[in-house]
Amino acid sequence: MDNFRHLLRLRDWDTERILNTIGIAIRLKNEVKNGIYSERLKGKTIGLFFEKPSLRTITSFQVGMHQLGGMPVTLEPKSIGLNQRESVKDIARCLSRWVNGLVVRCFKQTLVEQLAEHGNIPVINALTDEHHPCQALAFGQVMVEQFGEIQGKTVAFIGDGNNVANSVMELCAKLGMNFTLACPKGFEQKKEEIELSLPEFKKNGSKYKVFNEPKEAVKNADILYSDVWVSMGQEGQKKSKQNYFLPFQINDELLKQAPEHCKVTHCLPANRGEEITDSVMDNLQINLCYEEAEARLHVQKAILWELLNG
Ligand code: CP
Ligand code: NVA
Repeated sequence: MDNFRHLLRLRDWDTERILNTIGIAIRLKNEVKNGIYSERLKGKTIGLFFEKPSLRTITSFQVGMHQLGGMPVTLEPKSIGLNQRESVKDIARCLSRWVNGLVVRCFKQTLVEQLAEHGNIPVINALTDEHHPCQALAFGQVMVEQFGEIQGKTVAFIGDGNNVANSVMELCAKLGMNFTLACPKGFEQKKEEIELSLPEFKKNGSKYKVFNEPKEAVKNADILYSDVWVSMGQEGQKKSKQNYFLPFQINDELLKQAPEHCKVTHCLPANRGEEITDSVMDNLQINLCYEEAEARLHVQKAILWELLNG
């Protein structure tokens, strides 16, 4: 399977395509601000298949497709009955006859891979238990907008070694940014995920580090990344996880340990008072999470621009 036709995980894309996508996103954002809308995807459709809740991803894909002259179609998981009413193979083959691309939010990474394998349309991962590449690309866009030159910048991800951490790590590896994870012992990213990115870090001259306390991790950071401690689908672990993660809250005290210019972001939704305080969330001088939410719209248009071209 040619993974370059899809966006299943960021590691499948090369540095050139990532930078190109961010460049397209910034251009499209400026054009919309000036009232210019492209017709690039006129007559095209995408299917949106979401097994987990969403505000940002579903809305920004719908609006983005409309802004490019195309149309999104919402697919209802309950009605489709994946692997119950019908096999993944048959669903992928039928959808390929109607829509030009598929945007999928689900639990298992293997599902997006199977849909890509059995259909003949681009599949875009809109979050799985393992990856969230659209989020990482939006973060990349914000980094370029904020810092201009991003090579050598340091991102400190404070919290769980989860799907967003994996994708942000892959982005950093591809773009020559340092990635530091600060998490409680036992909540690191899977070894195999890290190992797949290490050669990219080396090639692009940046570093991967992990700490089991946050203070050391933020010392040289240009930006702190926050996400929930308990991801969708793990709700049963909330009580047991919370105690481990309390010292990993992004608050004003922790920010004092970071360089003065250090910014903060969060993929959202945020649990205010848990992984991040109200005081940091509402400090819009340093908190870039709403810029990142805005970037989702434009970077996803850029992804569609690249993948639905054929
Ligand atoms: N960050 C993000 O993916 O938000 P939603 O879950 O609301 O789509
Ligand atoms: N890690 C979070 C990200 C939400 C956008 C989750 O999977 O729920």
